Amino acid sequence: MIDLLNKHLNVELFAAYQYLAISAYCHSINMNGAAKWMQLQSQEELMHAMKFYNFINDREGRIVLEPIKQPKTEFSSLLEAFEAALGHERHVTSEIHNLVAEALERKDHATHTFLQWFVTEQLEEEATVVEIVQSLKLVGDNGHGLLMIDRELGSRSAATAG
Ligand code: FEO
Repeated sequence: MIDLLNKHLNVELFAAYQYLAISAYCHSINMNGAAKWMQLQSQEELMHAMKFYNFINDREGRIVLEPIKQPKTEFSSLLEAFEAALGHERHVTSEIHNLVAEALERKDHATHTFLQWFVTEQLEEEATVVEIVQSLKLVGDNGHGLLMIDRELGSRSAATAG
């Protein structure tokens, strides 16, 4: 189980890297509110990674830091960037669900309990990004609409560690 938790630590670190890359893209197209949103999301992903790090330590497992692969850096629009984020979150959700299944199979109750927080978190994250994607689809290329969404995204504040 420790090996699988280490692999997931890497998935969360990659998520942080991917969101940071999307933030950089948003800056490059002057969507600074969206860039801030993505940066905050990147920080949340680091917090997720640290939850795995600390849990592995608590279980007296050895933490193994694998290379973090290169994130996607280029997008054709803000919509495509958020769709990429959604695709990635769905991937993370399925990885979490696989971990839950493994923990159940191994009767590893401590890990199973630890993962429940992530099951809920994934639900919330996906719902949030789906909402943003829908708004972006609604406004399309409308500059005024995009600016409104960008302003709204920029009002996000940092989450406290859950
Ligand atoms: Fe930590 Fe967004 O998954």
